[in-house]
Amino acid sequence: MDKKSLFSGKTVKIGPESGYDNYIMAIESSCDETACAIVKNGREVVANVVASQIKTHEKFGGVIPEIAAREHLDAINIVVQEAFDQSGLKPEDITAFAGTVGPGLVGCLLVGLNAAKTLALVHDKPFIGVNHLNAHLCANFIDTDLKPPFMALLVSGGHTQIIDVESYSKQTILGETIDDAVGEAYDKVARLIGLPYPGGPRLDKLAQEGNPKAFELPQAKVDGYNFSFSGLKTAVLRLVKSFDGKELPVNDICASFQECVSKTLVKKLKKALEERGYKQVVIAGGVAANSEIRKKVFNLEQEGYRVNAPAMKYCTDNAAMVASCAYFNTNTFDDIDVEVFSRV
Ligand code: KG4
Ligand code: ZN
Repeated sequence: MDKKSLFSGKTVKIGPESGYDNYIMAIESSCDETACAIVKNGREVVANVVASQIKTHEKFGGVIPEIAAREHLDAINIVVQEAFDQSGLKPEDITAFAGTVGPGLVGCLLVGLNAAKTLALVHDKPFIGVNHLNAHLCANFIDTDLKPPFMALLVSGGHTQIIDVESYSKQTILGETIDDAVGEAYDKVARLIGLPYPGGPRLDKLAQEGNPKAFELPQAKVDGYNFSFSGLKTAVLRLVKSFDGKELPVNDICASFQECVSKTLVKKLKKALEERGYKQVVIAGGVAANSEIRKKVFNLEQEGYRVNAPAMKYCTDNAAMVASCAYFNTNTFDDIDVEVFSRV
C-alpha cells in the first residue's frame, strides 16, 4: 500500500508487500483505556502501554464520557512517551502513525485521533485512521502466522458479529445482534445481581464456581446469523425477582447465564464455518477474554479447525491491535481531515 507522508507528500510503502520492516505507532482512546503501542510488521509488539480508567468509573457503575475524555487528555502524552521508552525507538524510526477513528465515545476518540494526526504531521510520516472493530479482529495477527480466510466471532461491549474474513481487506458481516451486545448483556446482568463495574469479567469469575445447569435460560430464536440478548437479560431479571429478597444463588445464576450465551454464540459460529467451508476460526473483542466462550470455541479444534484467540491483554481495548490493523488492512481512513464517528 502506498501512503503519503503528511508534510512533504513523500510516498511511503506500508504493509506486507513493502519489502522492509515497518514500525507502526498506534493510539487507541475509544472508551476508557488510553493506549499506545508500536508494532513491527503487524505481528511483533515492541511496545504496549495501556492506562486504564477503571478506578475512576468504578464509583459511577459505568463509563462517564466527559470524565473519560478528560482522563485521556491527562494520559495521552505519558503513554506515547512510555511507548517510545519501552521500544527504544525514536519518532524517525516510526514508519507511520495510526489512530482509532470510531466507533466509540466521540470526546474520547478526538483525543487519541488528534494525537496520532499531530505526531504524523510533526514527524512527516503517513497517518492511518483505523476502525476499532477491524482492529479487534487484527489482534489475532499478533504473535501468530495466521492468514485469512477465516470466520470470526467479534464480541465486545458494543458489538456482536459473525464476520467472514475473506482476505486482509475483504470482510463481510454475516450477522449481528439485533439488540444488546454480548458485553452489554454481561454488564447489565452483572449490575442486576449486584456486581460492581466492570461486570463482565467479575461475572465470568463467579460463573466458574457455579452450576451451568442450575437454571434453564432461553436461547433467543433469531434468523440467520443474527443474535438477540435482551430477552435473556429479562429472563435473568425475572429469575432474580423470583427469589423475592432471599439470598441469590449468584454463582449458579452466573454459570447458567454464561452457559446460555456461550452455547448460542458457538452454535451460530459453527453453522457459519460449515456453510462457508473454512478451516480457521478466531474470536475477538473484550468478551473474547471470557473463559467459557474461549473454551467452547477452542473445543472446535477437536473437529479439525484451527482456532485462534488473542492473548488476554489484546482482547480488551489496546493499541497494538490498531497498529496491526494499520499494517494489514486496506480499509483505512488516511485523510488527515477524517472525523471521529460514534457508531457504525
Ligand atoms: O472490546 P472491549 O474492551 O470494549 C469495547 O470495544 O466495547 O470490551 C469490553 C467488554 C465489556 O462489556 C466487558 O464487561 C467485557 O468486554 N468483558 C468480559 C470479560 N472481559 C471483558 N465479558 C465477559 N467475560 C469476560 N471475561
Ligand atoms: Zn473494543
